[in-house]
Amino acid sequence: MIDDKSYPCSVLLIDDEPFAEDFIAHCLEGCSDVALRYASQSERVVELAIEVDATVVLVDLRMPGADGFDVIRLLRQHRDTEHVPVILLSSEEDAEIKARAFASGANDYLVKWPDGRELAARVRYHSGAYIARKQRDEAFVSLRRSQEELAASQSALHQAQKMEAIGQLTGGVAHDFNNVLQIIGGNLQLLKLLGGVSDSARTRIDIALAGVERGARLSAHLLAFARRQPLQAVVVNPAAVLRDMDEMMRRVLGPRAVIVTDIEEQLWSTTVDPSQLNNVILNLAINARDAMADGGTLTIRAANVPVGSPMLSELASGDYVMVEVADTGCGMPQAVLQRAFEPFFTTKPTGQGTGLGLSMAYGFVKQSGGEIQLKSEPGAGTSVKIFLQRSASEPEDAEDHVQTPLFGGLETILVVEDEEDVRTSTVELLSALGYQVFEAEDAAHAVELIDSGARIDLVFSDVIMPGKLSSLELSEVVRTKLPSAQLLFTSGYAEGVLAHEGKLDAKVNLLQKPYNADVLSARIRHLLRRRKPAAVTSH
Ligand SMILES: Nc1ncnc2c1ncn2[C@@H]1O[C@H](COP(=O)(O)OP(=O)(O)OP(=O)(O)O)[C@@H](O)[C@H]1O
Ligand SMILES: [Mg+2]
Repeated sequence: MIDDKSYPCSVLLIDDEPFAEDFIAHCLEGCSDVALRYASQSERVVELAIEVDATVVLVDLRMPGADGFDVIRLLRQHRDTEHVPVILLSSEEDAEIKARAFASGANDYLVKWPDGRELAARVRYHSGAYIARKQRDEAFVSLRRSQEELAASQSALHQAQKMEAIGQLTGGVAHDFNNVLQIIGGNLQLLKLLGGVSDSARTRIDIALAGVERGARLSAHLLAFARRQPLQAVVVNPAAVLRDMDEMMRRVLGPRAVIVTDIEEQLWSTTVDPSQLNNVILNLAINARDAMADGGTLTIRAANVPVGSPMLSELASGDYVMVEVADTGCGMPQAVLQRAFEPFFTTKPTGQGTGLGLSMAYGFVKQSGGEIQLKSEPGAGTSVKIFLQRSASEPEDAEDHVQTPLFGGLETILVVEDEEDVRTSTVELLSALGYQVFEAEDAAHAVELIDSGARIDLVFSDVIMPGKLSSLELSEVVRTKLPSAQLLFTSGYAEGVLAHEGKLDAKVNLLQKPYNADVLSARIRHLLRRRKPAAVTSH
């Protein structure tokens, strides 16, 4: 049975006789679910059927101009009316004509003038069938759409899981690799420092040290992808970072590329490691340059993206700042696009690309709590958008880490490191620089030393160490028992111990492994200079 409310019938009557309208209206009188619209111009049937959203068309068979058969043909030809049921009204009770009518697509045939009850029943029957068909088609389309959405989200999940697994593996390898580099680099530096080496040996040491540095860059990229690079996030305005890069961008892109910069005024701030952001943008610009061998335009855009913007995924909450690097280069085919973020995926010839640029960008943005979107089409260029969470605070003035050449001091340093080879080379390096050095293999031994009353000006400690006491607990002991001492951490990667969601507390002093003698001595001197007056030292 047809429910009056949910299945309203919209009847379109086409007849050259205006009398027909009165008759049909009379037949349908009292049918509150049926609306009737009459027209005499049969040529306009498609337009009218769409206008009244007809659920059934009643049409006279014999008319001047377009007749009943023509009306059926017109309706069936149009996408929006091809399935609208048609009831032919005819004065001829002729089997031949009836058969022809059904063959040409009529749904029903009534001889004029039918009984009102029969007419109403047939109108309802055909309308109901038509509406049911429409609902089925709509359900089918929506089912197909949700199946496509499901497939897309499954493939996104699969991709994310793959990246996560590669990330875990990469992070582990890079961590161990950093310790190995630290041992090699530390001992090479020590060799140089201790003297007594010939010029040619010194040259070889320098070559070996350059190799260590290359290894360190590689492992820094791997850590970045694994979201484990120690980030020193501060509040910055990306506009300032981009402006500082202007000159460098022009040099990277060369004279053949046009650079367009579009930075929104009053750009919001974000909390991010500025030097890493710089690095990421530089990598994106290099990719753009490589994609625009014959010249083109590089657009650097920065804009505020308020909460709820369609640019952001549904998961994103809050306001974001967007930095986009877009080029008009060769673009990427689908197969490259899908794998572009994977570490070591490159289409460049050997020696020209390591395939770490985009993977590093991906890891950095994720670790910084942001989103990265990559869009590209062959021949239509590439756009990489980075979304970083808006920060409520104002940018801080960055503290200048002035790099100074190797120099030491007379203070006392406690080195806490579980890897013996790393510890030994560091201790010897610091001793060679003139410092008095204590060493401890873990946090518990370090505390024992502190408790014994040794005078210590600076504690240089690894972050991840075995043992009951964590490096964080050690830092508490240092704070309470050696209030005037400085604390410098070192790590192969940022673990949860010091980091909040992968970001280091701005107050934490961290030296990334592998470090070289220059950087270590400069950081130590810098911290010792900041030391509070030693009023409460425990002797
Ligand atoms: N802007 C771009 N236009 C076209 N293709 C690009 C673009 N950026 C990246 N690609 C493609 O993605 C691949 C991976 O990029 P990614 O930056 O990770 O590595 P790479 O540039 O090959 O090497 P590396 O950055 O380590 O020197 C590239 O080899 C290239 O095929
Ligand atoms: Mg690259």
